[in-house]
Amino acid sequence: MNKPSANTLPGRVDVLIVGAGAAGLMCAATAGRRGRSVLVLDRANKVGKKILMSGGGRCNFTNLYTAPENFYSRNPHFCKSALARYTQWDFIALVEQYGIPYHEKTLGQLFCDNKSKDIVDLLLAECRAARAQVRTRCEIESVAARDGGGYRLQTSLGAVECESLVIASGGLSIPTMGATGFGYDIARQFGLDIVPTRAALVPFTQHKDELEQQQDLPGSALAVTASCDEGAFNEQMLFTHRGLSGPAVLQISSHWREGRMVAFDLAPGTDLPEWLKQQRTEKPDTHLHSVLADIWSKKLVRFFLQKHGIESRPLKQYGEKALMEIGEKLQTWKLVPSGTEGYRTAEVTLGGVDTDNISSRTMECKSRPGLYFIGEVLDVTGWLGGYNFQWAWASGHAAGEAV
Ligand code: FDA
Repeated sequence: MNKPSANTLPGRVDVLIVGAGAAGLMCAATAGRRGRSVLVLDRANKVGKKILMSGGGRCNFTNLYTAPENFYSRNPHFCKSALARYTQWDFIALVEQYGIPYHEKTLGQLFCDNKSKDIVDLLLAECRAARAQVRTRCEIESVAARDGGGYRLQTSLGAVECESLVIASGGLSIPTMGATGFGYDIARQFGLDIVPTRAALVPFTQHKDELEQQQDLPGSALAVTASCDEGAFNEQMLFTHRGLSGPAVLQISSHWREGRMVAFDLAPGTDLPEWLKQQRTEKPDTHLHSVLADIWSKKLVRFFLQKHGIESRPLKQYGEKALMEIGEKLQTWKLVPSGTEGYRTAEVTLGGVDTDNISSRTMECKSRPGLYFIGEVLDVTGWLGGYNFQWAWASGHAAGEAV
């Protein structure tokens, strides 16, 4: 008798999960611990690639302040149940159980002290303990519902049948890391709606003439309040060779649409006109550019003054009205980005499988028993700062308890 090759799949499992990323591995461990037989399939050559590259290699694995308000979705209530049943404290307890050292960087963002790999190792150890099998380099060729319930998948490693099928294949960001539209295709195949997708948590690009004016600035950063429509974020902005990035820009990109204006308060918390007036009283002989260097780097001062055609003179030479006008001009920078860097560099995908189709308690598709969607493939997108992983853990856990 021929020995089965190492790659042969079990013919049948209780739970089949497509995608060995954050949500899929959490779901596998949770379901496996309940005694379900679990198989996770991924087309990539290794699991958790996005976890490995996240947080600059240190994985910002959750946020201390995670709340439903930190998520975008056509139905803002959808994420509440799962987030309440598997909280940031649950994941932190798991991280502590594995002795993984971590720290808060800023704004409740928790990062590994060492490497993101600590989190992937944790998830794989959890899967092993739960006897969940994980296979990589496996292409899913077709998915079909079986008469009488369950699903049958044809894959590059053979056919497999399951009672519950969980789609955890993520969004479209960073195609070079293996992102595919697989989850959306499956949703469409089974008649589910997709909320239109777009790149989010992504740098802005600018027009060529603006970039020429900014040619000395790439690498310069400053604290700003970035706002667009109803969104406003108080964080750092960074000039790049293509345009603007940094946490404030990534955050506001989730609110931005083609052609819209973004406003940057360049001195958040300071009333610049009033501040300049006060500086004139205290330092009448000091040049404008010198006092502004208390707030911005010299390069930025030069750029902002040039941009508005403002000549730097000793402060006493400006009348009160003129100084107020200068302060107002310098305080706010409004611009219409030419676009974004797109999925090539975006951290997440906004939109996705419409949550109207999905039970917020179990992540099961209401019209297709046994079919589940979890993680980023759903129309639930977090802010920058560990929220997207918390959604992956929470939705993965919710489905893992139900499959
Ligand atoms: P995820 O993308 O993690 O996993 C999907 C899996 O499905 C992948 O392993 C993929 O190979 C597999 N797959 C796709 N198509 C398939 C197919 N057709 N067949 C089989 N398998 C398939 N978030 C955060 O909270 N903190 C952070 O620090 C960061 N940092 C960060 C940096 C960068 C550069 C990016 C791109 C993203 C982040 N994120 C983040 C976002 C975070 O990585 C993301 O939201 C989660 O990984 C989503 O988890 P999922 O499990 O849903 O998808």
